[in-house]
Amino acid sequence: VAKKVRVGILNVTGYAGLELARLLYQHPHVELAAVTGRSEAGKPLGEVFPTLDDLGLTITAEVQGKVDFIFSALPHKASAEALLPFLRQGLRAVDISADFRLRDAAEYKQWYQVVHPAPELLKEAAYGLTELNKDAICGAQVIANPGCYPTSAILALAPALKEGLVEPDIIVDSKSGVSGAGRGLSLGAHFSEVNETVSAYGLEGHRHLPEITQELRRLAPGGKLRVTFVPHLIPMTRGILSTCYAPLVESRLGSGLASAQSELAAVYRDFYRDQPFVRVVSAPPQTKHTNGSNYCVIYPTVDPRSGRLVVISCLDNLVKGAAGQAIQNMNVMLGFEETAGLLGLGLWP
Ligand SMILES: NC(=O)c1ccc[n+]([C@@H]2O[C@H](COP(=O)([O-])OP(=O)(O)OC[C@H]3O[C@@H](n4cnc5c(N)ncnc54)[C@H](OP(=O)(O)O)[C@@H]3O)[C@@H](O)[C@H]2O)c1
Repeated sequence: VAKKVRVGILNVTGYAGLELARLLYQHPHVELAAVTGRSEAGKPLGEVFPTLDDLGLTITAEVQGKVDFIFSALPHKASAEALLPFLRQGLRAVDISADFRLRDAAEYKQWYQVVHPAPELLKEAAYGLTELNKDAICGAQVIANPGCYPTSAILALAPALKEGLVEPDIIVDSKSGVSGAGRGLSLGAHFSEVNETVSAYGLEGHRHLPEITQELRRLAPGGKLRVTFVPHLIPMTRGILSTCYAPLVESRLGSGLASAQSELAAVYRDFYRDQPFVRVVSAPPQTKHTNGSNYCVIYPTVDPRSGRLVVISCLDNLVKGAAGQAIQNMNVMLGFEETAGLLGLGLWP
């Protein structure tokens, strides 16, 4: 029997860390050996989160004992700071925070209003969108796990951009459940503030905009691209639905709606042919089609009246948008099957 990899989670007490612990419990090649948390240190994990009782772990302030691999689900800045000692020891890691996603330390400072704690590592980190970046992920020491909105937007647009089907003039309109804002208490996350209402936010520039732009530029022919990104908060717990728009390049798809749609679907299906967690579907999906699972479900179509591509993508922000994708990255880094521990089906209703 092969020895299991001993894994630690920095900050199990946030939603992303909690979801990591839930998913790692089912992983065939992993032993979850250490979970840290600041305010709950010293308490049994099952006392803080009864659903995790079977893990039989105690939350500690620091990682105790030897681990072979580390996940961080800390907020940005704290995450890179906490990962540094492990990286210096040569451990490999997946960072779920935003700390290694932007390649440019000045851009990080501009969007996150703090000085990057380890700018020298930005060049070495790989952007962990497994579907597009597997080769870099295999060999990297640290992975920048993508943001939840960027995962939905980039996967929705990558085939059309890479195949030159659209002009590089993108609109991403996204809706997220409230768990996307984390577990910390805030006025904007109160039940009575979010229930029965929908609101746009981040119009002055959401932190995921530079990430979406950076990664889509790598796919667009010529690297030129502009993006408008408007996120919305929806009264639900989990899930992201992004509707993405771009002008179609005339003459790239057949004339006639039916043939354009079937050619488009064929391009998307072919692009994601070998990707276990992207499903190209033939009807508009809902967020609940992905809740609890690591799937990103994508529906590409054309609007013949305006000549635009319209792509709808759905995912669970805590799974494909955070913890599930982090495990997918670990699987690729450590040479496990990409799907190991991640084949659980979604929840319905
Ligand atoms: N939520 C999502 O859908 C999602 C998706 C993708 C990525 N992420 C990323 O995942 C990370 C965690 O997000 P989350 O949503 O799980 O957050 P969360 O639920 O709000 O949890 C934040 C946790 O961080 C702890 N914390 C705050 N500042 C800290 C510090 N300086 N040092 C140590 N612990 C600190 C808090 O613990 P105390 O009780 O000790 O204060 C709290 O448990 C973030 O970087 C976020 O960007 C989240």
